[in-house]
Amino acid sequence: MTKTVAVLAGDGIGPEIMAEAVKVLETLRASFGLKVTLENALVGGAAIDATGNPLPAETLALAKRADALLLAAVGGPKWEPLEMAQRPEKGLLGLRSELGLFANLRPATLFPELANASTLKPEVVENLDILIVRELTGDIYFGQPRGVRVLENGERQGFNTMLYSESEIERIARVAFESAAKRQGRLCSVDKANVLESTELWREVVTRVGKEYPNVKLTHMYVDNAAMQLVRNPKQFDVMVTGNLFGDILSDLASQLTGSIGMLPSASLDSNNKGMYEPIHGSAPDIAGKQLANPLAMILSVAMMLRYSLKEEKLAVLVEEAVAQVLRDGLRTADIKGDNDTVVKTREMGDAVVAVLRSKL
Ligand code: IPM
Ligand code: MG
Repeated sequence: MTKTVAVLAGDGIGPEIMAEAVKVLETLRASFGLKVTLENALVGGAAIDATGNPLPAETLALAKRADALLLAAVGGPKWEPLEMAQRPEKGLLGLRSELGLFANLRPATLFPELANASTLKPEVVENLDILIVRELTGDIYFGQPRGVRVLENGERQGFNTMLYSESEIERIARVAFESAAKRQGRLCSVDKANVLESTELWREVVTRVGKEYPNVKLTHMYVDNAAMQLVRNPKQFDVMVTGNLFGDILSDLASQLTGSIGMLPSASLDSNNKGMYEPIHGSAPDIAGKQLANPLAMILSVAMMLRYSLKEEKLAVLVEEAVAQVLRDGLRTADIKGDNDTVVKTREMGDAVVAVLRSKL
């Protein structure tokens, strides 16, 4: 059966990197028997410019109808003056919450060729393979009440609410335990249980769910320590599970261990493994339109989509191996360039991945 993939290029470098991901999908469709229909839609700043809404009804309808979504990036300085509720980011957050994509898997894996691209010593990051499981539809990102209010003395006060209900914690904990059971069997839950009640409950619930997974070794860590440990000795981690806000921060941190944020894909899944797939990096407006961006995180997001939503494990591996191959062949975009490397453009990197795929026919 032909599956529908919603293609949401978004803003900044989004359209450039998405073009390379689409080339990869077109190649798989033309030559490797992948049965997909790609449908484009507007989201973020691009959607605001065209319709006044960061998540137009048409886009949401496609998102609900599609079997999977590919999203590049949203946001940019052009839309920063807008009120919070009108900003491009609301398009992305709206998709996450409307589709119930609560489980965000962010693997931080080091390609051996890039050990020197990391700002840490190669021996600290060699063979690094961490999976961050970030809760994606709760926490202070969505908690009510929120806003800016005026106090009696006339001073303004900003406020947000960090919320986690037991069922929200339970379901993300299960995803994390299941993932850890398939990997090295170690799960570190990250919280701030020494200060925040909502994460005290987090710790309690994760511990309770852990009793159902005797083969997974569960540990707990405060988020400040986790940030430090990720830089000090990242290989101590197998799977990490944490809330929306801490996960946002720690996954950026973890990405740099692997050489570049331009390398890391992610999957955001609902309870039926329908998913949205996106690089963890943003829209990088400073380099947009210059063919400087690294399309590999976007292309690796295609691989995750093939694996989790389209159930095409063989093609997922094929794409991941093609990415490894272009790195072995020495191709580098500016973000992963070593001292003696020549830099290729976004398009050339995408073409190289496609060429490797074709060579496997
Ligand atoms: C991410 C991004 C988003 C987030 C932004 C763009 C809203 O940083 O996917 O990590 O904070 O979740
Ligand atoms: Mg982020």
